[in-house]
Amino acid sequence: MGKVLAFVSGKGGTGKTSLCAGIATCLAAMGKRVLCVDLDVGLRNLDIALGMTEEAVLPFDCLMREECSSSALSDHPRIPNLYLLTAPVNTLPEEVDADAFCAMVLRERENFDFILLDAPAGIGVLFRLCINCASEVVVVTGGDKATLRDGARAAQMIGDKPARILVNRLDPKLFRRLGETVDDIMDEVSLPLLGLVPEDRNVPLSAYGGKPLVLCSRKGAASAVLRVSRRLCDLPAPLKRK
Ligand SMILES: Nc1ncnc2c1ncn2[C@@H]1O[C@H](COP(=O)(O)OP(=O)(O)OP(=O)(O)O)[C@@H](O)[C@H]1O
Ligand SMILES: [Mg+2]
Repeated sequence: MGKVLAFVSGKGGTGKTSLCAGIATCLAAMGKRVLCVDLDVGLRNLDIALGMTEEAVLPFDCLMREECSSSALSDHPRIPNLYLLTAPVNTLPEEVDADAFCAMVLRERENFDFILLDAPAGIGVLFRLCINCASEVVVVTGGDKATLRDGARAAQMIGDKPARILVNRLDPKLFRRLGETVDDIMDEVSLPLLGLVPEDRNVPLSAYGGKPLVLCSRKGAASAVLRVSRRLCDLPAPLKRK
């Protein structure tokens, strides 16, 4: 039975899609079968972050209505074991059938080691749907106090699902002073820490070039995302590369 990870945030633009794509790529490169689902109905962009804009990617409602099976999904052009279901274009968030979506996720847990749900920003219907289907929630925030507080508020809406916080776009200077950073973060939020990812221009550059982050760089955000992926597989990974 695969793990289902929901990437959520309070505020938009914290890096859910970028980190979901980066982690999915690493997990697949580690030999796991990974299915990514873009839930940003109307504003989908996970295909860009994964470098799959040229592939014929199925929308999730096709699998949800059992009009096709996961064996029909297109392979990632560069990374085996990595698959994407995109968000339908002409559907409103409140039109997504929550029961049918969760039933689809439950069925596909038999076929994949990890299912990664890329939620839209905020705490609306699709946020709740992601939480309901998830086996673990990943709250993506920035490292400044205001964004951390916002992440903590999103965390309060999660209920009793296991959840960890993933702090993105940390100032590289702060990233070097990790001890203090972790202390500050723990003061601000009441969730265990999944990882810290530094600000790194390779994140937008890789999406712009249509190439997954870990195929563009081995340092900075790419290295942090790889360590987060190892933690998600219950493998040891220090907060910072030695
Ligand atoms: N670690 C990082 N370093 C530099 N830029 C980053 C980093 N993480 C994300 N970004 C950039 O921040 C922007 C927003 O990222 P992304 O689309 O992943 O956020 P999101 O949380 O999915 O947004 P939304 O809430 O709109 O879905 C993008 O331009 C992305 O390239
Ligand atoms: Mg997004």
